[in-house]
Amino acid sequence: MSIEVVPGANAGFDLLVAPRRVPSRDGTAPGHGELVDILRAATAVPDHGHLRPWRFVVVSGSGRSSFSDALVAGLREQDGGEVPASVSAKMAGKPDAAPMQVMVVASPVVASNIPRWEQTVSASCAGYAIVLAATALGFGAAWKSARVLDTAPVRALFAASPEEQLLGWINLGTCEQGSIRRESDPLDLFDGRVTFVGPRPA
Ligand SMILES: Cc1cc2nc3c(=O)[nH]c(=O)nc-3n(C[C@H](O)[C@H](O)[C@H](O)COP(=O)(O)O)c2cc1C
Repeated sequence: MSIEVVPGANAGFDLLVAPRRVPSRDGTAPGHGELVDILRAATAVPDHGHLRPWRFVVVSGSGRSSFSDALVAGLREQDGGEVPASVSAKMAGKPDAAPMQVMVVASPVVASNIPRWEQTVSASCAGYAIVLAATALGFGAAWKSARVLDTAPVRALFAASPEEQLLGWINLGTCEQGSIRRESDPLDLFDGRVTFVGPRPA
């Protein structure tokens, strides 16, 4: 799979506003080289103090059933063992949505004087960089989470230490034609979400 770069000054901008595509259930996962490229992009994000306060866990193949089992065990922990079959099946099926998941783990350097929140923001940026890089390489990418992320079985699968936080996972894989979800919303500079201190650019 090759990178399609449209020559021109706004080639990168086109990617930022491109409609996102979701991986298909039966798609193909990124290979080793593509994964290396995707994770390289993930580690090029803003990072105050160069702490690299993140790590990633790649789930694919048989790992998806381990992930599925941990999600269901997390559900039992959270809901006290009485889980309706339909709820359990829905949770168990989450890793089936794509051939690969990349769990994004905020892994702060506790001893640093860079505030914890800044480090978590940096890890969040890494997650978004994964989405963008995968999109640039032609893959579908969708960031997902589950309410059981913080339970012991799920944290154990991803070897999360007490100070680490699971930020959700990114489903990755090739996608079918027509899997485009939606165009990005043009931001209305007058809807109150953007304000100005000083003059508004003409
Ligand atoms: C941390 C995080 C967790 C997310 N978890 C989910 C999720 O579990 N399910 C979901 O549909 N979207 C989730 N999203 C949002 C999706 O990645 C995506 O932006 C959203 O589904 C909108 O997709 P669309 O733009 O194609 O409509 C999450 C986003 C973030 C940043």
